[in-house]
Amino acid sequence: MNKYKKDFPIFQNRQAVMPLIYLDSAATSQKPQVVIDAVVEYYQTYNANIHRGVYAIAEKATEKVEEVRKKVAKFINANDSSEIVFTHGTTEAINLIAASLCKRPRKGRGILLSEMEHHSNLVPWQHYARVAGMPVGYLAFDGKSGKLTGEIVSEGRNKKNTDINNYSIISLTHVSNVLGTVNDVAHFAKNIRDNEETSVLIIDAAQSVPHMKVDVQDLGCDFLAFSGHKMFSPSGIGILWGRKNILNTLDPLLFGSQMIKEVTLHHVTYQDSPERFESGTLPIEGIIGFGAAIDYLSEIGMNTIRTHEKNLIGYTLEQLRKISGLTTYGPKNINEHSGVISFNLDGVHPHDVAQILGQSNICVRAGHHCAMPLHKKLGVPATVRVSLNIYNDDEDIDALIRGLKEVKKVFSIH
Ligand code: ALA
Repeated sequence: MNKYKKDFPIFQNRQAVMPLIYLDSAATSQKPQVVIDAVVEYYQTYNANIHRGVYAIAEKATEKVEEVRKKVAKFINANDSSEIVFTHGTTEAINLIAASLCKRPRKGRGILLSEMEHHSNLVPWQHYARVAGMPVGYLAFDGKSGKLTGEIVSEGRNKKNTDINNYSIISLTHVSNVLGTVNDVAHFAKNIRDNEETSVLIIDAAQSVPHMKVDVQDLGCDFLAFSGHKMFSPSGIGILWGRKNILNTLDPLLFGSQMIKEVTLHHVTYQDSPERFESGTLPIEGIIGFGAAIDYLSEIGMNTIRTHEKNLIGYTLEQLRKISGLTTYGPKNINEHSGVISFNLDGVHPHDVAQILGQSNICVRAGHHCAMPLHKKLGVPATVRVSLNIYNDDEDIDALIRGLKEVKKVFSIH
């Protein structure tokens, strides 16, 4: 077992049954013992609600949660911890921004997304754009290189919207959850935004923050959204980072509870960020686990994680390409590739591939991965997806390759 794998008890616990070959970290990551311990410690020694009680365990829980907010701010280099909003995940964070920004459309200007977006950075915009009557355009990607081309495509009555100046909201994925493409967001930020005062740039960082150093100042964006469960934390907790001056002008998504400054029977005023957006009781144990996850990631170092994954991406691609009839999608250059690799095997449906691999405890995802337009562009309804993390190693990939050979045998493909 590699040294990182030992930190994740699930691998040890499954060993006696059948070794767990977990290659689905883009769906959710496994959890290290330190995260599990932090959650258990909260429940066993200071379980209380936060921002309410004045007794010791409530104060301790509040302190711990606010410490995590500071840790997250430092982790992504935010200017201030009040710019860190706890949400239930990336999807909620993007819904929050979309709902609010689309209430104030700039006349004639629309929303620019890309063809490689996850539905979570597509459907909320489509919905609120429709409500507000805003056009939606898309940055195209090239199916062969798996990279954004810079060309803008739009359909129907919006055909003319191929000029960047027609867009005041730009929301892009940092890393594709299917192709593994690491988009050069900083470059796009410089080149696609005419003026920071009149346009807003949102980055879906669900697949990047867990795997590489992400610095919001370097990216040059206004908002960043990501989820805890893909970065070793419990599920149900995510982050929305935003520039303070914009955050405090946004409407909340959820109303009630502690997000108010003052309520009368006829009037309400809201708190500033983060309270403004954190209505109801937060998933406290999730936040505390998230803090332990950030400590764990920071201890290893994001650059070490990226280097480990890059070596493994290289090995995986090399081994996959030796299999005849197998097509991989995504960038050729490993520096532009995250640890997400999608492929198809000629003559076998992706679900059958995943099913047969699953029988040997090799966990991969098959389907459209919540990115239907991307698959339409590739010309396939579905793909098999392998996604890597720090606990994976060459042996996992060797098991995957043996599994794929078994798939070919079952389907009598040579
Ligand atoms: N968004 C996650 C994935 O791509 C669930 O699998």
